[in-house]
Amino acid sequence: PVPAFIDSLIAKMTVEEKAGQLTILPAAWGGGVATALNPPTNGPSFEEQLAEVEKGRLTGVFNGNGVEMARRMQTAAMTRSRLKIPLLFAADVIHGHRTIFPVPVGEAAAFDPDLAERTARMASYEGAAAGIDWTFAPMVDIARDQRWGRTMEGSGEDTLLGEVIAAARVRGFQGKDLKANDAMLACFKHFAAYGAAEAGLDYNSVDISERTLREVYLPPFKTAIDEGALTGMASFNEISGVPSTGSDWLMRKILRDEWGFEGFVVSDYTGDMEMIDHGFAADAREAAKLAFLAGVDMSMTSGYYRDHLPDLVAKGEVPIALVDESVRKVLAMKARLGLFEDPFRRIDAKREKARSRTKQAIALSREAGRKSIVLLKNDGDLLPLPKSGKKIAIIGPFAEGQHDINGPWVVYGDNKLAIDLATGVRGAVADKSAVSVTLGSKVEEPLAGGIEAAVAAASAADVVILAIGESETMSGEAQSRAEIVIPAPQMELAEAVAKTGKPIVVVLKNGRALALEGAVLDAPSILVTWFLGSEGGNATADVLFGDYSPAGRLPCSFPRSPGQQPYYYNHKATGRPNPKGPLEPYKAHYRGIPNSALFPFGHGLTYGKVGYADLSVPATLAWDGEITVSAKITNSGAHAIEEVVQLYIRDRVASVTRPVRELKAFRKLALAAGASETVTFKLKREQLLFIGRENKPTVEPGLFDVWIAPSAEADGVHAQFTLVA
Ligand code: IFM
Repeated sequence: PVPAFIDSLIAKMTVEEKAGQLTILPAAWGGGVATALNPPTNGPSFEEQLAEVEKGRLTGVFNGNGVEMARRMQTAAMTRSRLKIPLLFAADVIHGHRTIFPVPVGEAAAFDPDLAERTARMASYEGAAAGIDWTFAPMVDIARDQRWGRTMEGSGEDTLLGEVIAAARVRGFQGKDLKANDAMLACFKHFAAYGAAEAGLDYNSVDISERTLREVYLPPFKTAIDEGALTGMASFNEISGVPSTGSDWLMRKILRDEWGFEGFVVSDYTGDMEMIDHGFAADAREAAKLAFLAGVDMSMTSGYYRDHLPDLVAKGEVPIALVDESVRKVLAMKARLGLFEDPFRRIDAKREKARSRTKQAIALSREAGRKSIVLLKNDGDLLPLPKSGKKIAIIGPFAEGQHDINGPWVVYGDNKLAIDLATGVRGAVADKSAVSVTLGSKVEEPLAGGIEAAVAAASAADVVILAIGESETMSGEAQSRAEIVIPAPQMELAEAVAKTGKPIVVVLKNGRALALEGAVLDAPSILVTWFLGSEGGNATADVLFGDYSPAGRLPCSFPRSPGQQPYYYNHKATGRPNPKGPLEPYKAHYRGIPNSALFPFGHGLTYGKVGYADLSVPATLAWDGEITVSAKITNSGAHAIEEVVQLYIRDRVASVTRPVRELKAFRKLALAAGASETVTFKLKREQLLFIGRENKPTVEPGLFDVWIAPSAEADGVHAQFTLVA
C-alpha cells in the first residue's frame, strides 16, 4: 500500500515539480562514466544540477560518483528544495560494483541461480554502500543472434534459463528488505525484444510475430516481475513499426493490464528523444507526450518531461490524473526504499570504503569466475595441466596486462585491480620461471615482431596457453559485429604457433558466441572464459591446473560459420528438416554445413567421464497429473565433477509448429570420481504450454519426446510419453 502522506504531498506539488519527479539525468559529477557506453552529455554542470534539485525539477541522477556526490545532492534536496523530497540515485551495476563478477552471459554459463543471486546480492552490498538506491539491472533480453553486442549482458538464447537467472538476480539485488542499506531496487530491461534486433544490429528494428514475442522474449520480464522487480526500462527498438518507448500496447496493455505491474517504467537514456529519429514523433514535445501516454513514467537524460509535461497538461493533451499516477509510483518507490524516513541511509563514506572489495567479495568473484568457464573440447585430456615439470608459454594479446579482464559495462570497477592470466598462472605453478609470456599480436592489429617472438616462445615450451579473443570494447552496447570470428591478426598468430606442433590450450576471451575455425578450432583444448571480472586470472588458473573441474555450459550456441546467424538450438524443424546424418540436397541447411551448432547450447565438458543411462519415463501424463522422469548419470573419470543435467522436450504435433527441442528443466549435480546418481525431474502439463493460434498460452494432448542430455543437440537418453486429455 502507498503511504497516505504521498497523496498529501502530491496535492501540494506544482505540475513543474511533478514533472521533476519524472526526470532523471546522468550525473554531472560522474564516476568512471565518460566511456563510449555512457558518453558525456553536454548537459548541465554539477552546480546547475544542484540548482535544479533546489527547484524540485529532478528526481535523481544516475552513474554518479559515490557518496560524496550523493551527500551534496541529497543535502540540497532536503534542505533547500520546497517540498524536501529525497533524491533517488541510480547506476548501471551490471555485473558487480567495485568487485566485478563475470559478464552476465558468462555467469549464466554456470547454470547456477544460487550463484547469480549471491553475486547480485554482493553487488548490492557494495553498490548500496556507495549511495546507489537503484540498479539498471537485470538485463533479461533473450539473444538469438550472436552478432548483437549486448549478448554479453543477458543470459543467452534460452527463455527458461533467462527466466531462472532473471528471478535470481532480482532476489539478489533487492534482498529481503528494500529499506536495508544493502538493497538496491532492480530494473528489468529492456522492455521489449531489444535482443531481436534485425541482423543483430544494435538499436535496429524488430519485426517478429506476437507469438514469438510472447513465447520467447517476454517470459523473463514476467518472471522478474513475479519475483518482485519494481521498475522496468523501455527498449530503444521499434517492434513492427512502433518504438517500444511509444507503445501503449507493450507498456499499458501487456505490462499493466495483463501482468498487473505496479512499479514504474523509465525510458532507456534518450529513448523518448529517439522517437524523433525513428520518425514516430515530430518533435520533443510530441515525443514527450507519446512516451508518457504510452506508459513510460520517467524520462532519462533528455529532460523532455521536465520541459514539456507542464505545457502538455496545461493544454489538456496529457491528463493531470495520469501525471499524478506516475508521480505516485515514483514517490511510493522512494518510500519503499526508506528514503523518506532517512534520505541518507545509503550515504555513508565509512561504509562505502569498508564494503568495497572485501575478502568475501573477491572470493565470490573467483568462485563465480571458475564456475562460468566452459570447456569446449579437451582432446587427449590435455587439461588439466600439471603444476610442475612443464614449461608453459602464455601467448596472445590477453596473456598479460591490466586490461580486458572485467569486461564491458563496468562503470565503477577498475581493470588495474583485476588479476590477469599470467598472474593467475604464475600463482598456480610450482616454479614461476617455467612460465613465459609473449603478446604475439594486438587484438585487432598485428604487433611488429610479435609472431616471431611467439613462435620462439612456443618452440621453447612444452605447452602453449593461447589467450585470444575479443577485447572488452568489442562487445556490449553498440558493439555489434558483422563477423563473429577471432580477428585476423590473432588467427595468424594461432596458425603460426600451431605450426610449432606444441600442444595448445586456447583460452578464449569473449562476450558472445564465436565461430571458431582453423588452428583455434583444431587446438586440443578450448576454454571459453568470457570476461570473468576481478579474479579472472586466478579463476582461469583454477580450471587450467585442475583445482576446479570445469562445469560451465554454453548459454549461447557456437555456430559452425559466422553466416549461420541467427542460430539457436530451439529452432523449428521446417518442412525440409536438416538431416541428422550426411547432408542431403534440398534440405534446410547452408551449402556444405549442417544446420546445427559446432558447440550447442548446454554443451560443456568436465574433467570426468560422464555417462547417461536408464531413462525412466511413464508412457502417459494425465491432464492434471505429474510424471517423474529420471536417468542415471555416472562419472567414470578420475576427477570430482559437477554435471549440468538438462531435460528437453519436443511436442511432436500441435496446431502451431513447435521447436525441435525445448529446455524444460536442469539440475547441477556434484559427482565424485566413480560415483553415479539418479536424477529425477517432475513434469506437468503447465510445462508443456505454448502460445497458440490466438496468441494465448495453450497446451494440446498428444505425443512428446523427452531427452535427458548433456546439451541441446546431444542424444543423451531419449523416450516418449503421451499427454492424455
Ligand atoms: O541502463 C542503460 C541501458 O542499458 C543502456 N543505455 C543507457 C542506460 C543508462 O546508463
